[in-house]
Amino acid sequence: MKETYHKSGIGSGTTIPVLAIDGPGGAGKGTISRLAAQRLAWHYLDSGALYRILALAGSIHHIDLNDETELAKLAGSLDISFGIGGDESVWLANQDVSDLIRTEQAGAAASTVASLPMVRTALLQRQKAFLQAPGLVADGRDMGTVVFPDATVKVFLTASVEERAQRRYKQLIAKGIDGKLCDLLADIQARDDRDSKRAVAPLRPAVDAVIIDTSQMSIEEVLLSVLNLISLRTSQ
Ligand code: C5P
Repeated sequence: MKETYHKSGIGSGTTIPVLAIDGPGGAGKGTISRLAAQRLAWHYLDSGALYRILALAGSIHHIDLNDETELAKLAGSLDISFGIGGDESVWLANQDVSDLIRTEQAGAAASTVASLPMVRTALLQRQKAFLQAPGLVADGRDMGTVVFPDATVKVFLTASVEERAQRRYKQLIAKGIDGKLCDLLADIQARDDRDSKRAVAPLRPAVDAVIIDTSQMSIEEVLLSVLNLISLRTSQ
């Protein structure tokens, strides 16, 4: 491998490669990002989990989801840890919150706090700190546009709303959780709307992102496309 990686977004002169994967909820970002990180043996940033944990911590501290100042303060002091390797657990202080933050309600609450500019600023350095050798797969909405604007490869994964709702539905059923397809569809549409219309870091592909519509693709197909992009770029 040659040392000609594009500079990452942190500091100058650093050569740590970043694979930024953005896109709407349910497009397969989480699955693809985790698998890519495993195959590449790179670090993994689940930025959505940070917003989900902040919303949870806010409710534990009885902070209104629109109280920007208090939430930004809280964001700066949260004690968050992630499992490593294949371990998907997420901890808030000494509590395992992995299941608590994955509900549809937690997603909606996350999207509300994520629309607050001071909250986004408060979480920025925490996200950049994930950038460590040998590389980082960063999963979110603004990885390629704001957090790692110089990422080595930027991918925007998308899929039709119907397909994303179907996938969520199957995930819930597999977990033994009841859900109505029409409710999921409405939730996803509402979250897309909020995420793409907000003033700060709206959900949109970076100008230099490769857009992949995963509606008709298998996980393995998407993963291969993404890994191909990385090997093309890092062997230049
Ligand atoms: O990706 P995930 O569904 O876990 O994200 C939850 C919510 O957090 C998103 O709907 C979005 O509003 C917000 N988010 C964000 N920026 C990111 C990651 C997530 O605004 N980089």
